[in-house]
Formats: sequence, C-alpha cells, structure tokens
Amino acid sequence: MMIVDQLRERILEVLRELDVEVPNEGMVQVTGARDLRFGDFQSNVAMVLGKRLGRVPLEFAGEVGEKMGVEDWCEVTTAGAGFLNFTLKPKAWAEVARGQWESDDLGVQQVGSAKTVVVDFSAPNVAKPMHVGHIRSTIIGESLSRVARKVGHRVIKDNHLGDWGTQFGMVTWAWKRGVDEEGLEKDPLQELLRLYREASNASKEDEGVKEECRAELVKLQQGDEENTGIWERCVELSKRGLERIYDRLGVGFDHWMGESAYHDVLGPLVDRLLGEGLARESEGAVCVFSNGEGKPKNDPFKINRDGEWEDFPMIIRKKDGAFNYATTDLATVEYRVREWEADEVWYVVDFRQGGHFSQLFDITERMGYGKGRKWVHVSFGTILGKDGKPLKTRAGDLPQLEDVLDDAVKAAAVVVNEKSFVEDVEERERLAELIGVNSVKFTELSHHRMSDYLFDLEKMVSLEGDTAPYLLNSYVRSRSIFRKLDGNVDLDGGQLELSEKAEIHLVRMLSGYGAQVHQVLDDFRPNLLATYLLEVARAFHSFYEACPVLKSEGVTRMSRLILCDLTSRVLKDGLNLLSIEVPERM
Ligand code: ARG
Repeated sequence: MMIVDQLRERILEVLRELDVEVPNEGMVQVTGARDLRFGDFQSNVAMVLGKRLGRVPLEFAGEVGEKMGVEDWCEVTTAGAGFLNFTLKPKAWAEVARGQWESDDLGVQQVGSAKTVVVDFSAPNVAKPMHVGHIRSTIIGESLSRVARKVGHRVIKDNHLGDWGTQFGMVTWAWKRGVDEEGLEKDPLQELLRLYREASNASKEDEGVKEECRAELVKLQQGDEENTGIWERCVELSKRGLERIYDRLGVGFDHWMGESAYHDVLGPLVDRLLGEGLARESEGAVCVFSNGEGKPKNDPFKINRDGEWEDFPMIIRKKDGAFNYATTDLATVEYRVREWEADEVWYVVDFRQGGHFSQLFDITERMGYGKGRKWVHVSFGTILGKDGKPLKTRAGDLPQLEDVLDDAVKAAAVVVNEKSFVEDVEERERLAELIGVNSVKFTELSHHRMSDYLFDLEKMVSLEGDTAPYLLNSYVRSRSIFRKLDGNVDLDGGQLELSEKAEIHLVRMLSGYGAQVHQVLDDFRPNLLATYLLEVARAFHSFYEACPVLKSEGVTRMSRLILCDLTSRVLKDGLNLLSIEVPERM
C-alpha cells in the first residue's frame, strides 16, 4: 500500500475508535505537503470534520495525531488552522524506496475499472503533407494512449485520416495531366503536394479549371473506375509517406479508419435521423437544429449575431446531396460504439474545432449514445514563431513537419558535436536524430496543451533548461555508473538505508511517480508528467552532487546505487509514456 493510503487508513481507524461519524470517506484525504518545511504529507481532515463536531480543529487534529500510533516511522505534528502534518523517518523512506524498486510497475497502480478508450488523433488530410501543427495532435494523442494503456485501459488508437474530400478533384485533374511516376515512388507526399498545388494554382487563374476539378470529384463520388483507381493509389501512397514520418516519431496506430471507410453508411444514417425527427430539411439541406433545452449561450446550435440568437445548425447533407465532415463523424460515433464497444472516445483535435465537437457530442447524446459513456474533445492551441504569430515559413506557408524535424536534427547535431563524448561518427548521427526529434516532441509535451507556445529550436535542443536533452542526460548519467562497474554489482534492496537530505528528497520525488501518471488523465495533460520528470532529474542532479556513489562504502554505497537504478527506471518509464526514447550514451 502507498504511504498516503496507509496514513489515510490509519486516520479512518482512529476516527472509528473515537466514534466520529464520517458522512463520506472522501472527506478524509492525505496529500503531498504543500510546503515541505512542514512535512512530507498533510491532511485537513480535522478542519473538515472539526467544525461539524463543534470542536476546535487544531485541538482535534492533535487528538487524532496522538492516537495514530505511528511514531515508530512517522512524526506527526499539527499546524495552522488544524492541519495534520506527517514527516516520515528515514527508515520509512527507505521502505518506500525499496517497495518501489522491488515492484515491476514502479508504483503505477492499475485502475479499478478498465475502460475501452478510443483515441482519435493525428488524422491528417491525405494528399497534403503533415505540417508542423500536426505534431500537437500526433504527440499528445500518442502519449495519452500510452498512459491510458499503462494504467490498464483497453486503448484503440485510430487514425481518422481525411482521405475523402474536395482535394481529390484537384489531385486527379493534375494527375491526368502528367504525374511523375518516379517522384511518386521516391517521395509520394511531395509529388502529391506538387499535383495539388498545380491544380490549385491553375484553378485560381481559370474558372474553367475549377469546373474541371469539380467534375473529376463528382466522377469519383459516382464510382468512376479510372478516378477511383487514382484515388486509391493516392491514399495508398500517402499512407506510405505518413508511415515514414510516424516511424520517425515513434508513433503507431491500431486502425486507420479514414473518412472514406464510412462512405456507404452515410446515406442510410441521414435517412434514419430524418425518420427519427432528429434532423430535418432546411433550404434544401439536411440539418440538425437545437432541441431548445438549455440557455442559448450554452447551446452549440445557436449563434449570437448583432445581439440576436440565431440558429446555427449542423449540416449533415448539403444541398447538392453531398455528405460532409460532420456526417462522417456521426457515423464514427456509431461505429466506435457498436464495433469497438467504446466507453470513452478522446478526440485530440485543434481548439478551433470546438464548435463542431460540441454539436457532435450533443447529437450523440440525443441519439442515445451518451449514457455511461464519455466523449471528450482534447483540444490544443497554436504553435507560434519567434514573432509571436502562428509559425510560418518565409514563403508564408505552414512549415512541413518533416522539414521541421530535419532542422531540429541539424540543431541537435551542433550540440552533439560540441558536447558529446561519443566518438563514432555513425553513433553521433543516430544521437543527433534521436535528440532532435525527441526535443520537438518533449517541447510539445512540456507545455499545457491549451497554451500557444513559441517554437525555438535552439532552446529546445539545449542541454540546459527544461529540455529533452537535460532529461536524456540525466538518464544517461544515472546509467553510466553501472557501465563503470561493468556488471560487477548485485543490488540488494534489503540493505537500503537513507540519511542524507538529498537522498530523501530524491526518494520523495520518485515515490510520487504512480500518482503523477494517473493525474495525466484527469484533464488530459501530459505536461504534468513532463514537469514531474524534470523535477526528478533535478533532484537526481542534487543527489549526485551531494552524495558520492562509487567512492562511498558498504550500505551507503549499495543504497545510492539503488537510488541511481530506481531513478533511471522511473525516468525511462516516464519518458516512454511521453513517447520519448532514451539513448544509453551521449
Ligand atoms: N482531418 C481533420 C483535420 O485535419 C481532423 C480529424 C479529427 N478527427 C475527427 N474524428 N474529426 O482537421
């Protein structure tokens, strides 16, 4: 049992002994101390219950504290308006460290009730390469999936590719006028982008071309054989190009259920919604309107124009009979519930789509898929350039993700060449790739997902600061001792003893790992784990400076070796949850 749980159990026992009625056990909490000067853990139970009992909380805290009978391993004091403060003795901390070190899960407990969670993330649009903004959904989604899996949920990672849409009219038009087969083999995404741009430029100059592109799209939608063939190849090739980037990022999916996969069910779905009265026709289109419950300002189907609330329906079949993004998303809701038995679906998508998801979830509710399930839009902000505006290339486009990664690797190579002990040229190159890519990923994950952040390559590959290289270096350091020992050591947890402040501080940090991992899912915030790992690394560096390891002797040496080992395991495991790979040397 975790220390906080032990203390909490003991408090509950004391309250029973004192015949104090506890209306609900949630009132009894033990948490990490806000201020370490007062202790390691604290409880406000005496303040919560004291008032109800008509007792002075501080006095009541004193009585509970005395009765706990934990003085063997924990010092109990009271303070302020009635806090109970707990300071573990070094002996108890040694037990905590040993328990964590001996466990396989490093103290990350499994959830009581495992859920089937679909994580919908990345989902770029086919025939356009991924741009820098896609890093956000891709990396946050991957990391949340890993954390959810770690704590025991059944996770289904789905790439809801935008593989069906107007862009195919354009690509097909240009394709027929000369596709570069060689280029297509070498770099499919770039060749498709070239075709897309060619058509897009031509149709800007010539209305006739625009019409021709639209005609190609209609032919595709009607199942024309040639156009379907071209579309299929586009999607196949795009997937191949995307796989390459995902491999580089260490990201993977269980399914690639793109928009086109739902093609055949859209017509019947809209008809059914019409039949059930959930949708109705309006100006030739089929729409879902507000059901009129709730205030307009919280109603996703209302919009305020010049002080008046107007209808803002979700269109699910356009005037021309075509289905859209919204129709497809309604179909995915059904599919995920029926085929995958999803309990929760997390959509990791840009905040600008907030309105779409509010409407989608509302309709989901009305269709009867809400009960007992959770639908979440995990939204995120924008990546900014140094000028504080959304990041752009010199030409004014969004930078392509691959170019950004290449630049990061170049910046990392400069640092590696300056600072690394690694001599072998190839290993250096691998190291630069690893550091570059992981720096971009870590920067993403270390910011609150809703905040816009500044994309500064030099800063993110630096060894100093809240960076990936700082963390990776801490990991390498914690392992390097064992390399020096060359396997000549048998770690024995039974010998663990702690005395130095820096040791205890490190153990205290490490012991919080399990709770931190769980907290990520409370509000879908991997940055909490990223920040925590930075703190672990800082505690490790302080320990490493204050406490010689190899030069010490006996149980002290053994204990410190175990702390190094435990630190390296927590760092590696935590970084892995953030989808960040560690090098063994750097
Ligand atoms: N392809 C969409 C875009 O690039 C994102 C899709 C997100 N997932 C979803 N089920 N709507 O904006």
